[in-house]
Parts: sequence; C-alpha cells; structure tokens
Amino acid sequence: MKNVTVIGAGTMGNGIAHVFAQSGYQVSLVDISQSSLDKALSTIEKNLMRMLKKEKITEAQKDETLANITTFTDLKDGVKNADLVVEAATENVDIKLSIFKDMDKYAPENAILATNTSSISITTIAAATNRPDKVIGMHFMNPVPVMKLVEIIKGYSTSNEVLQAVMETSKKLNKVPVEVNDYPGFVANRILMPMINEAIITLFEGVAGVEEIDTVMKLGMGHPMGPLQLADFIGLDVCLSILNVMYDGFKNPKYAPCPLLVNMVTAGKLGVKTGEGFYTYGESYKDMKVSEQFKK
Ligand code: CAA
Repeated sequence: MKNVTVIGAGTMGNGIAHVFAQSGYQVSLVDISQSSLDKALSTIEKNLMRMLKKEKITEAQKDETLANITTFTDLKDGVKNADLVVEAATENVDIKLSIFKDMDKYAPENAILATNTSSISITTIAAATNRPDKVIGMHFMNPVPVMKLVEIIKGYSTSNEVLQAVMETSKKLNKVPVEVNDYPGFVANRILMPMINEAIITLFEGVAGVEEIDTVMKLGMGHPMGPLQLADFIGLDVCLSILNVMYDGFKNPKYAPCPLLVNMVTAGKLGVKTGEGFYTYGESYKDMKVSEQFKK
C-alpha cells in the first residue's frame, strides 16, 4: 500500500492525512471546499512545527511530510490511484452513502474503502458499494497525531485479507489497531458515551457543578480531561448523534441522551467548535472557563 486518499479535510481528515504522510505514504487529500483544504494544510504544518520544536521530528521530516500531501477538490481525480481510501467526511449517513457510491465508482477495483465513522454501521455503508468485502471501519481518535488507538471495525462482509491489510497499515503509522465487530457504538463510543451522558445527567440533577464533576474524574480516575470537557472537545452534536445511534440500535433506554444535552445542541452550544458548551473557550481549547449557564 503506497497511495492513500483521505476524503474530508476537517479535524479528523487533516489528522489522518498528517499521520499517513508522516509515515511516508503519498496522500491525496480531498474536500469539496478549497478553503477547507488550505486550512487543513496550515493546521498540519502548525502541528508539524510543534513536533519539530519538541525535537520529535527533523526539519527534513517536516518538509517530506508536507511534500507527501496533494490536495483535490474533485473526488474522481483524488481517488483514481488509491490503494486505500479513508473517508472522514461529515457524520451523516446520506452523505457517507453517496460518497461511498462515488468512491466505489472511481477508485481502482482493488482499493480498500475505509470509513472513520464514529457510529454509522460499516455493514450499511458497505452495502452501498459493489465491494462490501473491501469496506472496513478505521476509527481514529482526536487528536489523531497524538492518540495511539485505531479501532478497526469489521463489517458483516469484510474479508479477513482486508482486515489484516488494514491492521498492518495501522501499525506502520505507529498506532495500535484493535479489531472489533460492527455493532452500534463499536467499543470506544459504547463505553465512552454512556460515561459522558452520565456526567451530564449528574450535572442536570444538581449533584455537582461542571468543574467538580470534571475534577473528580481527572484527579480521581486519572483521565486527561474530565467528561464534560471531553464532550465539548468531541462536539456535543457528535455525542448526541452517537447516543441516538446506540439508543435506536439497541432499543435500550440506558442510552437515552440527557435532556440537557439535547437542549444544548438545539441551542447551538456545541462545545469548542462554537466557543461554548459546558465551558466557554478563547483562542485555544485550553483557554476555558465554566459557561455562565453553569456558574453557581
Ligand atoms: N498534533 C500533534 N501533536 C499534538 C497535538 C496535535 N494536534 N495536540 C497535542 N499534541 C502533543 C503536544 O505537543 C504534547 O506533546 P509532548 O507530550 O511531547 O509535550 C502532547 O500532545 C500533549 O499535549 P499538550 O501538552 O498540549 O496537552 P495535554 O497534555 O493537556 O494533552 C490531549 C492534550 C492529548 C488532547 C489530552 O488532553 C487528552 O488525551 N485528552 C483526551 C483526548 C481523547 O479522549 N480523545 C478521544 C476523543 S473520542 C474520539 O476522538 C472518537 C469519537 O468517535 C468521539
């Protein structure tokens, strides 16, 4: 595997392009918006500069990584030489199905088609293509250059050969791949999202405040971020949509999203990306204060 195409230049897409390019793959980064592509390249450069300053990479490695990335606004051109395509577009089933139909049409016959979806069924996405045996989940974690895990999701029809190829490729990125089966929330979000939801319910019921809940989990359990801060970091809309996928998929009330989460998403308070969630944010996600709504 040499040529990798990444579809979508958002937070996850630029991180995925970064790690493949840094590991020597030729990366085609595709997005319909040229300004998103430009922003992605500048984010990748900024993250590489941070690694260079910390002497984790050399100047030459930084330049090689950037030189390994080519951008495209047309999917047809971007996937035509791909050995592997990793889709990291908007988390919306109709958008993903339409992209997979196009990827199936224009990518070489033997190319593996992977999705970075955090909750949509791999089996459903695979069924939209004529190569369901070559469709697989490659679920990276944010921030992609830092987090070691890639959750590899085997759809109902994914072949063992494709699974092994993707496991090996993930190791070449210096990541740790973990194989899981295709059920709602897979493993990462099936365990993470109920914890985040329970933290929101704990706040909603007035058991404790935002900082208190996050401090308990940071200092008591050694989590790098408290669950409310992490929810803001992931995006409250993303958390809500994953909880709904599990609620619908298992028909189990234990996954029902907290009404406070639903209200915040309806009000457009989505966390870091909108500048306000449980906290309000300045220039960086680290520059945060408890939101006025939750001040005592
Ligand atoms: N690119 C490259 N390097 C980066 C980076 C980036 N985007 N962001 C941070 N880093 C590096 C820093 O340079 C730093 O390196 P050193 O250890 O060499 O100093 C290291 O990562 C730690 O960063 P910071 O010192 O700036 O900050 P921190 O120690 O507070 O860590 C964090 C920041 C890594 C984000 C940490 O808070 C953390 O692990 N948070 C939890 C993240 C998490 O749970 N992610 C998964 C979310 S779920 C998901 O993504 C999937 C889903 O489906 C919802």
